[in-house]
Amino acid sequence: MIHPVDEVVASAPGRVNLIGEHLDYNGGRCLPIALPQRTTARVALRDDGRLVVTSPDGDATAYVAGVRDALGIESGLDVALSSAVPVGSGLSSSAALECSVAVALDELLGLGLDREALLAACLRAETEHVGAPTGGLDQSAAMLCTEETALLLDFATGSREPVPFAPEAAALHLLVIDTRVRHSHVDGGYGDRRSECARAAELLGVEHLALAGPDAPDRLDGTLAARVRHVVSEQARVDELVAAVRSADWTAVGTAMTASHVSLRDDFEVSCRELDAVVDAALAAGALGARMTGGGFGGSAIALTADPDSVRSAVSSAFAAQGWEPPAYLDGHASGPARLE
Ligand code: GLA
Repeated sequence: MIHPVDEVVASAPGRVNLIGEHLDYNGGRCLPIALPQRTTARVALRDDGRLVVTSPDGDATAYVAGVRDALGIESGLDVALSSAVPVGSGLSSSAALECSVAVALDELLGLGLDREALLAACLRAETEHVGAPTGGLDQSAAMLCTEETALLLDFATGSREPVPFAPEAAALHLLVIDTRVRHSHVDGGYGDRRSECARAAELLGVEHLALAGPDAPDRLDGTLAARVRHVVSEQARVDELVAAVRSADWTAVGTAMTASHVSLRDDFEVSCRELDAVVDAALAAGALGARMTGGGFGGSAIALTADPDSVRSAVSSAFAAQGWEPPAYLDGHASGPARLE
């Protein structure tokens, strides 16, 4: 029998990372914004001890069970999910799910936890329960990002600094382009990159690879040198892009974005032909800059442009010419964090 207890509804956003890719687990800096697209969790207690999860987007039970365990909750739960963050799109649908459930459970059970504790529980759910060895960027963005603001996260010091981000004020748009090439970080390339970076840090004798210094790639060979070249150059590009955003130099913002893509494509090797096609078509259509965002191997790209219609049409034509499934377009307006509804 089910208790007639109140239910709680909470939501949390997807994210895009503006720059600082694959730096969270290397002790570097990242600059995410929260997206307007959100995942909503409707949560109620059950008295039979069971966890019943319903979701139109595939089985989400492992993520919900992970959050429940990480919060030390033993009660039975009904959890109904719905999401405008496309699953597997590189827009952190899993973090949006975890964070919406965590905020709802905190309220439902009166746990009184702060955002940091909820964030830590979500990260444990993903890394320990689901087994995706991700680095904390996504959960931080979903829990902490605010409207019209990017969040500069420093994974070496733990500091977080808001950076006002409203390209709309300069008549520019951040367009999010989902290639619809699906990826998972539970196995495959993401874990390989983490291992390569850990090995490089060990060989260089540094705790945080992102702080290894510009000469670090010269002290390694082959693949590891290329991986480190991405990490240390990306760390420098984060600072360039933040300075450019602060001085409203949108051309320089675009230049740093595109340079980040080239580095992820050539040195870190986490792009794919669809992501490269998006970037090439967006730039050919006049975008100030474009890059893949998130872990890569599929997922989404972002483009900074004064003319989103032209970019959409150029990207769609490029995909049609290859016979690929049409991409999806989302609004990249910087939005707010996880909240009760
Ligand atoms: C995925 C992971 C993050 C981060 C990015 C790459 O989104 O979940 O922790 O490592 O890839 O920046």
